[in-house]
Amino acid sequence: MKLFSVKLRASKDGKHISGAERITPYEKIKTVIDQLYDRLSRKEFDSINIKIDILKEQPLLVEKTLPVVNMNFKNHREANKWAIQIIQKQTGLSEEKIKQLIDLIHFGASPDRENMRGAMIVDLRGNRLEKNRSRGVRTTDVDYLDREKIIRKLKEKCFTERTADALALTTKNMLYPDIIAEYCISDEPDYLTGYVSTKEAYYRLTPLKEKGNEKGGRIYFVKNGADIDKIYRFLEEKPVLIKDVDI
Ligand code: COA
Ligand code: AMP
Repeated sequence: MKLFSVKLRASKDGKHISGAERITPYEKIKTVIDQLYDRLSRKEFDSINIKIDILKEQPLLVEKTLPVVNMNFKNHREANKWAIQIIQKQTGLSEEKIKQLIDLIHFGASPDRENMRGAMIVDLRGNRLEKNRSRGVRTTDVDYLDREKIIRKLKEKCFTERTADALALTTKNMLYPDIIAEYCISDEPDYLTGYVSTKEAYYRLTPLKEKGNEKGGRIYFVKNGADIDKIYRFLEEKPVLIKDVDI
């Protein structure tokens, strides 16, 4: 069956506000555009860009997302301490180095101290490897085979659609052998839940950032010597469809 990637992104005054994407058969393109438009247009925008492309290769079919582990903390400092420990175990980086990297995300990781447009890539020596420190790398072309079923399942356990998107994105990341962990906080000032992922689980941590902070971002921790071009190719081009959620 021919599948299409449908991507919408909204901006205001030249600044990206939000984006979303789906992988869908031809017959559902119109419905999907409607759904994504409804979601994006809730925020004030002056431009919405819609992109539809046929998938050039068959998607990789994945049985399940990472298992979801939900954790609540007294405050963002406690949550970050826990996040640092788990990243330390996975990467062998010092707690101090991990804290420095996480601080960059909380204060603006691009050279102009703004949010990056994608994720930071860091190896196990603590070196940043993105080709461009303002852009980083963006994980795209990932969705669920039957999104309605997944959203139903997540909602039954009181998770949101946002969790579905983050979980799909990070599940794709963790499929790549050289990516061993991820740290993420949203750039929305009121959305305080973030996550750390490893090959074993998606740890959903609340609150991982301070209320009111407009900074956010992602760090992908990769093995030393990882081929950066191949990482970009996989994350930005390889289509992935996930069959079920592990909750
Ligand atoms: N933040 C800031 N700017 C962004 C951006 C982001 N997340 N995504 C796109 N842009 C802007 C940038 O200026 C970008 O130029 P750049 O490549 O120099 O950074 C420009 O838009 C074009 O980017 P492109 O990658 O061609 O956008 P797109 O039309 O293909 O849309 C999104 C990409 C927004 C759909 C994608 O980045 C995204 O975030 N998808 C959602 C991921 C997700 O939730 N997946 C799970 C689905 S289940
Ligand atoms: P969001 O999860 O959309 O709130 O995004 C949080 C941060 O993650 C953004 O500020 C970007 O730095 C980064 N980011 C956004 N989209 C992507 C993506 N598709 N892949 C990797 N990083 C992203």
